[in-house]
Amino acid sequence: MKNIIVLVSGGGTNLQALIDAQESGKIRGGKITCVISSKPDAYALERAKKHGIATRVISRKEYCDVSSYSKAILDALNEEKADLVVYAGFMTILDEQVVKAYPNRMMNVHPALIPSFCGKGYYGLRVHEEALRKGVKLTGATVHFVTEVCDGGPIILQKAVEVQSGDTPEILQKRVMEQAEWKILPQAVSLFCEDKLEVRDEIVYIKN
Ligand code: GAR
Repeated sequence: MKNIIVLVSGGGTNLQALIDAQESGKIRGGKITCVISSKPDAYALERAKKHGIATRVISRKEYCDVSSYSKAILDALNEEKADLVVYAGFMTILDEQVVKAYPNRMMNVHPALIPSFCGKGYYGLRVHEEALRKGVKLTGATVHFVTEVCDGGPIILQKAVEVQSGDTPEILQKRVMEQAEWKILPQAVSLFCEDKLEVRDEIVYIKN
């Protein structure tokens, strides 16, 4: 059984999707053993506690720079014996010391079809604001491995979602979550835990 550590910063609906998938037996070969939040008041922490999952708060505000914060997260991941680290609405940048310690063992869910609307400054609602500003007719979500390049790691799964006339960023965000993020994140986690993901030359192959 692989230890899955989930990193969060906010409401935690993606964490909830993972918990629901776990409780209905859809995550094979892994178990969420700890949720780590960068914010002490993140509602995601309540979601974890309700389901008996251990929590830790490693508050970004208490560290003066990215390097010391990354070291604190890395120590926690090692203590928790993480096999897989999932960024589920984790809004804090970690440096390469963490990424290098967990190559192809950290994944992130991003609310757009990478390489569109991604990279530095594209997070949360801002992604949907930009998609609407550009007038794209299709958007979606991506789950990818985390590398040193922000939103640039190998793509594991993607799902497209239609933009509809009258969409606000909030409405579009909700549709992308419901139709894409909450589906592909648990799927990607299960594929990893079943040893079905192989990365060659920056491309992810899914084994049968
Ligand atoms: C989600 O839409 C997630 O894809 C996005 O933040 C939201 C968190 O919601 N993440 C990013 O933008 C990362 N670049 P949640 O806390 O309810 O899961």
